[in-house]
Amino acid sequence: MTELFIHYYYPVNEFGPAMPGMLIGGLGILHVFLAQFAIGGGLLMCWFQWLAMTGRVPKAREFLDGYFKGLVLISFVIGALTGVGMWFTSVQIGTSTIGLMIDVFHWVWATEWTLFCVEIIAGYTFYRYHTHLSDKANMGLLVVYSLAAWGSLFWINGILSWQLTPNGWLDSGSVWAGFFNSSFWPSLVYRTAVSLTIASLVACVFINLMKDTDVADRRVLINRAAQFLWAMVPMPVVGLWYLATFPPDSQSWLQGGSIAMTLFLALAIGASTLLGLYAVFGLLIRRLYINVSTALLLVALAFGATAGGEFVREGVRKPYTIRGTLYSNSIREGDVQHLREIGSVTNDPYPLRDASAYFNANLALGAKVYRFQCSPCHTLEGANGLSHLTATWSADQLRHNIAMLQRTKAFMPPFAGTPEELEALVFFLSWVNVGRPDVWPWETTDEDLNRIRHWLDEAGTGPGSEVDVYRSNTGG
Ligand code: HEC
Repeated sequence: MTELFIHYYYPVNEFGPAMPGMLIGGLGILHVFLAQFAIGGGLLMCWFQWLAMTGRVPKAREFLDGYFKGLVLISFVIGALTGVGMWFTSVQIGTSTIGLMIDVFHWVWATEWTLFCVEIIAGYTFYRYHTHLSDKANMGLLVVYSLAAWGSLFWINGILSWQLTPNGWLDSGSVWAGFFNSSFWPSLVYRTAVSLTIASLVACVFINLMKDTDVADRRVLINRAAQFLWAMVPMPVVGLWYLATFPPDSQSWLQGGSIAMTLFLALAIGASTLLGLYAVFGLLIRRLYINVSTALLLVALAFGATAGGEFVREGVRKPYTIRGTLYSNSIREGDVQHLREIGSVTNDPYPLRDASAYFNANLALGAKVYRFQCSPCHTLEGANGLSHLTATWSADQLRHNIAMLQRTKAFMPPFAGTPEELEALVFFLSWVNVGRPDVWPWETTDEDLNRIRHWLDEAGTGPGSEVDVYRSNTGG
């Protein structure tokens, strides 16, 4: 018996009508937005500190004081809470994925966490003592804060971009080849530009709230803060550069292969374009003064663009969480064949919730297979609910389309269990579709199992997409 590459079975938590991915996604978007605000905010403050020190904009001091308090409150507190929340949800939902990410990038995480601590210490020291310290010392603190904040982006960016384009690591196993992968630089440049943009827009909101400062002074501050919006100008080119590094099948999801993905990309592009046009023509060229509601609207557009962008980044990895390595349900590509022989849930020790609802062992087996292989992306009756998707399908259609799962939709992984497990899953789904009766007859013939086996062999164990460049030949 070949050893399985990773430990597969962990307690599974279900999140009701929401898909687990939506939970991580929602939290992730908020976290990324705040984290990027913290980075851009630091750089913006260095600049305003310099404007204040050199006497160019005396009012910059008042801005610094208030803006930083907001930055501390929002990005430290909510940012840190959502960061912990990300770990809390991902260890429940994608245990093996997080496990592998820590395994491969142990020291990178350690470096990132160290920088985060430096960021918090420098930031807090400034917050607490800046009125007592010299201008030079304050500048020093802000520079340390900003470098540490941007530095933590640098390190985490390598890990996140590796999930999508781990090419070098797949070939050589080298951590650095994985870290400096093909989407590393475009993603870093892109995120840095986004950070500057968010910081600038939030500053415009904040300056509007400085009621003790008169309008002429506020206008000066807004014009200065808006300078950071120049970062939006190269964004279309950087965005295209970033997209060009996506693997071909991921690109095909975006070009209509997956409607949801295409829509979210359109949202990201639409929101950034509107924002960019207003920023460049209104704020930078015509030097318009913007009031608080316009500024808030622009922040909301930036949030929409971030949300669309993050959704796309997470979504285009399908059917993988780590390309060429772990499928989205945490099953390793190289283990699929083995699980088809020994059974995917044979060794799953965790009991089913509501076990008494399943009137026989076969139905319970189907429920376990669903929990292990499908529930990372589907619910039964809620979001992306299988009972809606398969409502009109016959048992044979279910058998065929699940055995050929990666061909049914190329962003799903291949089925990774025995023909008997697949048949149990079909039974389970059909039973759910007829309203979960107390008892329900189900017939399986040897012929059915043979056909399933044949379809599984035909589908193979690789991803469904023909254009996948990372496809390793795992047989099948
Ligand atoms: C990587 C995430 C993922 C996993 C894992 C996954 N699916 Fe899907 N599946 C999707 C997405 C996304 C869709 C598209 C839904 C849509 O078209 O609205 C889908 C669609 C489907 C459909 C409808 C296909 C069609 O042609 O209309 C079926 C049936 C289905 N999945 C069954 C399963 C089963 C059974 C499993 C577990 C063995 C599974 N899926 C695992 C993401 C996944």
